[in-house]
Amino acid sequence: MTELEYLKKYLHPEDNLEEAIKRLNNGEPLQYIVGDTEFYGSIFKVNKNVLIPRPETEELVEKALNLIPKVFNEKNLNILDIGTGSGCIPITLKKHLPDAELNAVDISRAALEVAKENAKLNNTNVNFIESNIFSNVNDTFDIIISNPPYIREDEPIMDIVKNNEPHLALYAKDNGLYFYETITREACNFLNNKFIIAYEIGEEQGESVVSIAKKYFPDAKIILEQDLRHFDRFVFIIRR
Ligand SMILES: C[S@@+](CC[C@H](N)C(=O)[O-])C[C@H]1O[C@@H](n2cnc3c(N)ncnc32)[C@H](O)[C@@H]1O
Repeated sequence: MTELEYLKKYLHPEDNLEEAIKRLNNGEPLQYIVGDTEFYGSIFKVNKNVLIPRPETEELVEKALNLIPKVFNEKNLNILDIGTGSGCIPITLKKHLPDAELNAVDISRAALEVAKENAKLNNTNVNFIESNIFSNVNDTFDIIISNPPYIREDEPIMDIVKNNEPHLALYAKDNGLYFYETITREACNFLNNKFIIAYEIGEEQGESVVSIAKKYFPDAKIILEQDLRHFDRFVFIIRR
């Protein structure tokens, strides 16, 4: 489908096509122009305050959904998503795990507003918390899942991403590894005995994130997995 066909198909009837084409020509992503996008079969509102959900993150959710019954017998799991953005991860998990309690943090109040709207739109109950990683979290969890910012500050990225999507959602210090190091180091205070940590990672970060995982959880099972394009993309840290 061409970009114009996409606009014609998905632009809401109340929006003006000429205005939309102008925005497209100014380099704005189609999803922000239309105002929503599909993720794992559901519709999510998006605007410039949230990252546009990516297909790799759908894979993260799918892999987590496949892994969970292999680790846990119980259904009333307590789950935390760190850096929730549009809320696509916890809202989708809640739809597939209706007995689980879903919590999600983001440092961006504007992102959380979008996430809350999305929870309503999708008729799901998710507990959203404004928090710098764990700063306002006071609970323990069975599962911590995160697609954190992971782009190195000096890494070249496509203009359409750099000029439109929130830099707070993209870049991370320490070679892009800041969130993996911080979350994994502090996670022991927020996890139950049996747990899964599920990360989406940058394609060149597999080795580094696995070694961070080994450093803080030497006795856990650590799995590095590839996405559909065969790039390293996911790390799971599991204690049964
Ligand atoms: C890569 S985006 C992921 C958004 C969404 N989970 C997804 O997969 O589409 C990372 C998110 O982390 C949030 N974030 C950045 N720094 C944070 C921090 N210190 N604490 C919590 N969230 C943070 C950003 O606001 C952004 O929403």
